[in-house]
Amino acid sequence: MRRDRWNEKWRERGAGARSEPNRFLVEEVSELPAGRALDLACGAGRNAIWLAERGWCVTGVDYSEIGLAEARRRSARQRVAVDWILADLTGWLPPAHAFDLVCVLYLQIPAGERHVVLERAAGALAPGGTMLVLGHDLSNLTEGHGGPTSADVLYTPDDLVADLAGLTVERAERVIRPVEDEDGLHEAIDALVRARRPD
Ligand SMILES: C[S@@+](CC[C@H](N)C(=O)[O-])C[C@H]1O[C@@H](n2cnc3c(N)ncnc32)[C@H](O)[C@@H]1O
Repeated sequence: MRRDRWNEKWRERGAGARSEPNRFLVEEVSELPAGRALDLACGAGRNAIWLAERGWCVTGVDYSEIGLAEARRRSARQRVAVDWILADLTGWLPPAHAFDLVCVLYLQIPAGERHVVLERAAGALAPGGTMLVLGHDLSNLTEGHGGPTSADVLYTPDDLVADLAGLTVERAERVIRPVEDEDGLHEAIDALVRARRPD
């Protein structure tokens, strides 16, 4: 989905966009000591704001100005400071070795672009820093609920591991995310990789 579609989506969702942090981010990051965090494809900011509320010094990047405007409103309301950056990740170079945590949640872009973004994201990790990448798994197309309907933007944990050369992989697996809607309870399948830059 391109930038104008994301702007439309965030405009439709408005203040009703999800505000609770992603469950896997909470599981994977809660035990880490707060430091500097980079949230790539931060959308309306739910995860970046959760991190900032826990004492992280957070930078959030997204190319949707409508999503970021909502993120700014939310962070002001919650009285937390987040450095919001409007940028297309396929052309944006993060500062090298500057972050203790880099997270990329549900960035569904074609494999070639994803590889570039994740390679740069890995380069932004300080020694000992943690990378968390999570998104709709390829198998979700046929076996799971919701998510993108084009295989081009889906991936597997192995695809993500291949994008993160030089990092030590701590966890790489498919995870189930329960989703409830008006038709009942469903299961979505996500790909999750947690990796670390060696000290
Ligand atoms: C499914 S939303 C996920 C938002 C957030 N990570 C979350 O979990 O709530 C995907 C986000 O990726 C952003 N995005 C997609 N392609 C991008 C690109 N090339 N550069 C920057 N942001 C991008 C969209 O604007 C959208 O906000």
